[in-house]
Amino acid sequence: MTKNKSKKDIVILNKNTFKLYLDEKKIQKRVLQLANKINREFKGKEPIFICVLNGAFMFFSDLIRQITIDCEVDFLKLSSYGDSKISSGKVTLLKDLNCEVRNRNIVMVEDIVDTGLSMKYMRNLVMQQNPKSFSIATLLLKPDSLKYDIDVDYVGFKISNKFVVGYGLDFAQKARNLRAIYQLKTNGKI
Ligand code: IMP
Repeated sequence: MTKNKSKKDIVILNKNTFKLYLDEKKIQKRVLQLANKINREFKGKEPIFICVLNGAFMFFSDLIRQITIDCEVDFLKLSSYGDSKISSGKVTLLKDLNCEVRNRNIVMVEDIVDTGLSMKYMRNLVMQQNPKSFSIATLLLKPDSLKYDIDVDYVGFKISNKFVVGYGLDFAQKARNLRAIYQLKTNGKI
């Protein structure tokens, strides 16, 4: 047990050191709490859960397995930050939805809301198709980074502005496979 713990306390990626920030147990506990709340609030509403690729895939798969109400799932893919830790300020749609949004209850599932630009883009995209309702679930929210007016309905953890990796979140496509979330040790930017 000790061996496993020490092995995963620090992650080094391209000479950047990341420290354990949210462990697997904490994440799973919170995911279950969010799922329970969603199960209660969407009972009888047959929501469509939309996974925002790539980053949300791990959160999405854990969350959806705790959803016990009738529902559907779909996937949307946006461009990522690339090799940077800072948003390019541009959003490109790489994969559109395949579901009929009109008159349905939509729940967008994101890994992290940072500036809110991606979520604003996705909200516009979905709202153009007249859903019955539009809700947002994000595992992480950086409140001090928000630049757009985004109402997040389900937040796993509010975190500081520092860059994080793991549990689906990447740095230059690395670290998505980690079970925990790690935070950049220095000032958070390169
Ligand atoms: P936003 O458009 O600025 O809100 O950024 C949203 C997207 O940026 C997320 O879906 C992530 O892919 C990425 N992102 C933002 N902050 C981080 C971070 O700390 N680590 C990894 N990816 C991040």
